[in-house]
Amino acid sequence: MSAVDAEIMRRMVETAPDGVVLADAGGTDHPVRYVNEAFESMTGYSADELLGRDLRLLQGEEREQDGRHRLHEALSRGDPCRVLLRNFRKDGSLFWNEMQILPLRDADGSVSHFVGYHRDAGERLRADPRQARDTLSGAHQPTSIAIRDDRLTGLYTLAYLEELLKRDWAIAQRERRSVAIFTVDFDALDLYNSTFGRAAGDSAIRRVAHCISGCLRRAGDVAARIDGGSLMALAPGLMLDQAMRVAQQMTERVRDLRIHHPRSIVLRYVSVSVGVAATVPEAGDSPAGLLQKSHMQLQIAKRSGRNQAA
Ligand SMILES: Cc1cc2nc3c(=O)[nH]c(=O)nc-3n(C[C@H](O)[C@H](O)[C@H](O)COP(=O)(O)O)c2cc1C
Repeated sequence: MSAVDAEIMRRMVETAPDGVVLADAGGTDHPVRYVNEAFESMTGYSADELLGRDLRLLQGEEREQDGRHRLHEALSRGDPCRVLLRNFRKDGSLFWNEMQILPLRDADGSVSHFVGYHRDAGERLRADPRQARDTLSGAHQPTSIAIRDDRLTGLYTLAYLEELLKRDWAIAQRERRSVAIFTVDFDALDLYNSTFGRAAGDSAIRRVAHCISGCLRRAGDVAARIDGGSLMALAPGLMLDQAMRVAQQMTERVRDLRIHHPRSIVLRYVSVSVGVAATVPEAGDSPAGLLQKSHMQLQIAKRSGRNQAA
């Protein structure tokens, strides 16, 4: 490749709209060699602050994530992997890092580096709320091309739930109604998978997912799987106190499934933690703020010992 081509390629990566990261393959750590501008603005860290470090630092104390475990396994085998992880920006705010990590091989065929392509999954919701209102004028269903069904659980996908949230947000603003969001996490899923194997873990996630969606009874309520054992539910019209009661019911019903989990640090059965947020959106509010709040509440539920709603 000529020098000009190489410069153009460099600028193409530098200015890409998604985060791009290059890291060494090496051992258990994958020190960063390069991050582009989009990755800097997504995380709030400058390239200098990240170079030479492993990006697990973005997980803060949120290490117990099924996606992190899967990523660890895939990277140690030199396989590609796509996961959605809870990460924290430099200012401590939480975001969903949707990443695809691919191995790069040298001339011998051995993996020398990994390249990561990253997106802030909540960014979609920061779009101009007027766009959401426009979708109201057409069909009642969202017009997006988001894939609707999660293959593992049969719930909706996160992308589809976000489309519904944008639509319900616009309606709630117009009618001055409340919108509630639940973020649900399977407690100690890593330990469940390492005790019983991934197939059993998937089956437990499926049972928990059905139980959670069974707690939602009103037309317009929807549940989606985010990734691993993380779920999210949307309940238009529910005020915070009503939503808290539903969240408590979620934790009770999952406990009542009595799915044996002998190594859980919480109980001897599978349990969930639930974060709840509800608001009557004002003009100028965005649904991303409500999602962020429910994630923060989830952190509180977990820090308070899990197996509870906050
Ligand atoms: C190219 C690349 C980019 C990565 N980006 C992130 C990231 O943005 N956020 C994150 O939490 N982990 C990221 N990771 C994953 C962590 O570096 C680490 O591999 C993961 O936490 C699993 O390993 P661990 O269980 O040893 O921590 C990335 C890994 C690679 C190779």
